[in-house]
Amino acid sequence: MDHWIAPSILSADFSRLGAEIEAVLEAGADVIHFDVMDNHYVPNLTIGPLVLESLRRAGFGCFFDVHLMVKPVDRLIGDFLGAGANLISVHPESTEHLHRTLSLIRDGGAQAGLVFNPATPLQALDEALELIDLALVMSVNPGFGGQAFIESSLGKLAEARRRIDASGRPVRLEIDGGIKVANIAQAAAAGADTFVAGSAIFGADDYAATIAAMREELADLRSV
Ligand code: DX5
Ligand code: ZN
Repeated sequence: MDHWIAPSILSADFSRLGAEIEAVLEAGADVIHFDVMDNHYVPNLTIGPLVLESLRRAGFGCFFDVHLMVKPVDRLIGDFLGAGANLISVHPESTEHLHRTLSLIRDGGAQAGLVFNPATPLQALDEALELIDLALVMSVNPGFGGQAFIESSLGKLAEARRRIDASGRPVRLEIDGGIKVANIAQAAAAGADTFVAGSAIFGADDYAATIAAMREELADLRSV
């Protein structure tokens, strides 16, 4: 699968959100990662479906990769489907009935993703593979941008890649947390094809140069 770079707007300047999204898209972002936090499932509070809806109304036609860190999660899925999410990812800990939750997403016409925290085993992945379009391995504990990459995530990524490939299903593998120019190649080598980066992109002076440097790392890896 193609490599996708997914800037996380968690690190954007929220007073200029539309302009920030426009800028990263122009700089070469493939999708926009939209982090939703509820101060319950994770100790932080961010943005909800109204913000997505207003971005759609303003004309943003890009792919929105919505990462839900909320509990309970089911009721908000309908709101995000209505707001125009393309892909909605959920954590297994945020729902009592994962199969129902993932089905709600797909039945509503969006792609579904399943997220694994650093200490969450991949156990649910095999059962869920036919219900999802993306598996997301967290390489930080969810809740904040700008945290350090947890190295043990690389082994977990490789194991998730092995299971996805063995299934033969077209499931993307995303990594989220602490991704930078310096370690994106390592994550790709371990099997990731979709790379969330918040602080590394929005914290840089030149978004396009940063995304280009990430792509160069990915291209170098392909040529070895
Ligand atoms: C963390 C979020 C991430 C976060 C990543 O809970 O899910 O998407 O924005 O930020 P960086 O890239 O700064 O680690
Ligand atoms: Zn995220």
